[in-house]
Amino acid sequence: MDDLLPGMLHLARDGDETLTRQLTDQLRRLIATGRLAPGQRMPSSRQLAQSLGLSRNTVSFAIEQLAAEGYLTLSAGRRPVVAEGLSLDRRKSPPRNRNNRAGSERINLSAWASSLQRSVWPPIHKERPRPFQPGLADEREFPHDEWSRCLRRAARNAPLRRDRPINHPPLQQALLRHLVVHRGIKAKASQILFVPTAQAGLMLVANALLESGDHAWVESPGYAGANVAFEAAGAILSAIPLDSQGMVISPHKQTPRLIFVTPSHQYPTGRLMPVGRRLELLRFAETAGACIIEDDYDGEFHYEARPVAALQGLAPSQRVFHLGTFSKATYADIRIGYVVVPEALIDVFELAQRHMGILTPVTMQDALADFISAGAYLGHIRRMTRLYKGRRDRMLQALAAEAGDRLAVEAPAGGMQLLARCRPQTNDQQLAARLLEAGVVSRALTKMLYHKTSERGLFLGFAAWNDQEIDRAARILGRIMR
Ligand SMILES: Cc1ncc(COP(=O)(O)O)c(C=O)c1O
Repeated sequence: MDDLLPGMLHLARDGDETLTRQLTDQLRRLIATGRLAPGQRMPSSRQLAQSLGLSRNTVSFAIEQLAAEGYLTLSAGRRPVVAEGLSLDRRKSPPRNRNNRAGSERINLSAWASSLQRSVWPPIHKERPRPFQPGLADEREFPHDEWSRCLRRAARNAPLRRDRPINHPPLQQALLRHLVVHRGIKAKASQILFVPTAQAGLMLVANALLESGDHAWVESPGYAGANVAFEAAGAILSAIPLDSQGMVISPHKQTPRLIFVTPSHQYPTGRLMPVGRRLELLRFAETAGACIIEDDYDGEFHYEARPVAALQGLAPSQRVFHLGTFSKATYADIRIGYVVVPEALIDVFELAQRHMGILTPVTMQDALADFISAGAYLGHIRRMTRLYKGRRDRMLQALAAEAGDRLAVEAPAGGMQLLARCRPQTNDQQLAARLLEAGVVSRALTKMLYHKTSERGLFLGFAAWNDQEIDRAARILGRIMR
């Protein structure tokens, strides 16, 4: 052993790492892999230093470090001994779980996590966003200077905030004032809970309300994130088709415990649910004893008329969870969303927030409160509404010019994206894949449909792209469609 050990060590004298570090790491690995057997006596530090051509100090330091970590046992006047029971050698591990194939151990996933891999959710783009990726605000237009001022002030004030409720009262109050005026929300400030994303809000509500086997209604076509959240809570989904007013209330379906709708701009059709359908939905929920999640994800941008009052404010009893996110109205990196919960459920929802870890930094909440109270938020929304309306119109023109005979586009009354319907014989998923190769991002409508229908289309974002980018991407789309 004393002779063999130096041959097992390969020290680079001109490398970036110190010799002590290299020696410690290599000895540790030899012990952990069982190449230095438990109980084996090591050479003395003097012998090892000599045979490796190192200073005694270097070797002693490595040995003392490994003794402190528990890899070696030292006793006065004796050579170090390799500690027992440390080998991670796989050949000595207990027998493998029979689901794991030799040499390629897999960790078994839950049915839910496995389903994510086949999910309707689009692949995550790791590259820079490209036209016409839906769901994106134009961060180039965001007032970063003003926001930096709010962040600096909030960071400076952090030590003064000795008690930090997880939902920051100044932001609750600032947002409530906004939601009352612009959405007709009826709530107390304390009913607003802050979550990192609207998606986290969906997970929170789904976990707090649904039992495994409960029925939940989702729109079809609709937002896949709701399906993912409800399935994670064990719900059985019913895909409810839409008509021109939104979700069709169909009493023959299984009575739901929870209903998910996007009434301000239906996702993905962009349609506004008129007040008549809203009231019908609320009456149905009352009778069925169901709760509703009203997802107002990009409800700040309206191009034709003032928005219809939110379901939450119209509801005769507290059964609507109003969900929103700042990631669309500001830009994607301001990851704060919110859920307005029924007053009676505030405490239990705050507990659920804590236990699920669905929390946002109070300093960020404080900065956002300042941003809203100073009028910067509303100013930004007003400017973006004008800008995005122009881009919507530009996109409608560009699509009509490039692919008007192949695409039927309904001008969305608001929001940041539109649905361009294709002919029923079009394979929209193949089309989306070809567009992606050409640098244009879209989502195929069939990936967002959960019932049988011949509808086909592409979901395209217009808000984050300037006129030149819109024209260029529309030309690519037209060329590929021809
Ligand atoms: C309909 C809908 N709801 C919720 C979300 C999620 O928003 P967030 O990014 O805050 O999770 C999105 C995101 O695109 C969306 O389109």
